[in-house]
Amino acid sequence: MILIYLGCSAIAAFALAMALGLAGAPPAAVAHAAFAIGAMPLIFAAMSHFVPVLTRSGGAEPAVHRLPLVLQAAGAAVVAVLAGRAPGWALHGALVAGLVATGLFLAWAVRRGRASLGKPHPGLAWYVAALGCLALALVAIFTGLLWPAAYGALRLAHLHLNTLGFIGLTAIGTLHVLMPTVLGKPDPQAALRLRRQLPWALGGVACVALAGVLPWLSVPAVLIIGGVVGHTVWGWWRTWGAAPLLGDGAAASLFGAALGLLAMVLAGGAHGLGWLPGRPAVGGFFVLFLLPLVSGALAQLLPVWRFPGPMSPARAEMRARLVRFGALRAVLFLLGGGLMLAGFEAALALPAVGVLMFAAALMAALVAGRAGRA
Ligand code: HEM
Ligand code: HEM
Repeated sequence: MILIYLGCSAIAAFALAMALGLAGAPPAAVAHAAFAIGAMPLIFAAMSHFVPVLTRSGGAEPAVHRLPLVLQAAGAAVVAVLAGRAPGWALHGALVAGLVATGLFLAWAVRRGRASLGKPHPGLAWYVAALGCLALALVAIFTGLLWPAAYGALRLAHLHLNTLGFIGLTAIGTLHVLMPTVLGKPDPQAALRLRRQLPWALGGVACVALAGVLPWLSVPAVLIIGGVVGHTVWGWWRTWGAAPLLGDGAAASLFGAALGLLAMVLAGGAHGLGWLPGRPAVGGFFVLFLLPLVSGALAQLLPVWRFPGPMSPARAEMRARLVRFGALRAVLFLLGGGLMLAGFEAALALPAVGVLMFAAALMAALVAGRAGRA
């Protein structure tokens, strides 16, 4: 139930972020509605699903399932403070709660890795690295709040560690496992690729985190992170070809998300070197990457969370409802995000339609599933 709630609330948080943006709320409040209320708890939910799979152990304990709710409450407090609706001390409370919940979750993932039957799947190390980035990002902004002279640089470290480190590493680690599941076809190269790419990806994230003070590090950052994402996309293309990747709504969304991440890394290099302003990258990251990623992943995962156990007709029907129009939604996100980066702000209407389409499909699928079960 908690997983389904977090899936639905992420979509609601994305819609809230778009509404806050249109209403002229401060950009940092808009960003945290999407990232801290929506994406952060959903990532923890997805990890609590995948860590047992990667370590061949039993399902997560109920206490672990409840940790994402703590993170969501922290995210809501951050948005309230940044929107000027709550006192500043609530930000410190949110930071402490976020750090404690992240630490507990990290300890659980490491413990599961140690207790794994045989070696854990290399995807687990990506999750550990991603959680480490989130913890560092929270420590960075906390330090910045206490040490105003360094606030500018630490804020840049916070936002890059969170977007490319926490969300980016989770996404790349998960996509290697999720894409073969979506397509129902194995990827014999996935484990090897994950193992080889992780040190590079970490090096790339370290370069971005430090690029705020040493802008030339933008060049290796783009080459390394772009190389990792490009290598993955190329590997999928060579293994499966265009027809399966574009033929299924969930696969097309996830493939679109990988292309969107690649575009954002290139755009990041351009603002890092001062050729473009940095701020539009936040909206670009949300629309070009997070929206196709989350809608594609939820189309695959929500039916499994709603109807656990062996494959059933009810689960297949729910999946069919959610993947329908997945490719069209991906086009709306990529086209809208591209136009927004080019300065056409009204193009936000395209991803907004995509989010509403997914929300409608989700509600229809949940109602039909309930009727089917009754
Ligand atoms: C408990 C969790 C978090 C806290 C307390 C927090 C706190 C903050 C603070 C205080 C700022 C500076 C705002 C300003 O200078 O106006 C900031 C900026 C930022 N944070 Fe977070 N943050 C959290 C989680 C996240 C997450 C999970 C992400 C993304 C995955 C994220 C992405 C960003 C971005 C993109 C900015 C720059 C926003 C802008 O100026 O447009 N944050 N954060
Ligand atoms: C490899 C990719 C990236 C590199 C190398 C990079 C590098 C940089 C650098 C060096 C700065 C400081 C520029 C300055 O102070 O003038 C910066 C600022 C910024 N970056 Fe990135 N970045 C990347 C990706 C991203 C992504 C994906 C986002 C999306 C959230 C983002 C959001 C921002 C923001 C919001 C600023 C600050 C703009 C401001 O408030 O002045 N960056 N970036």
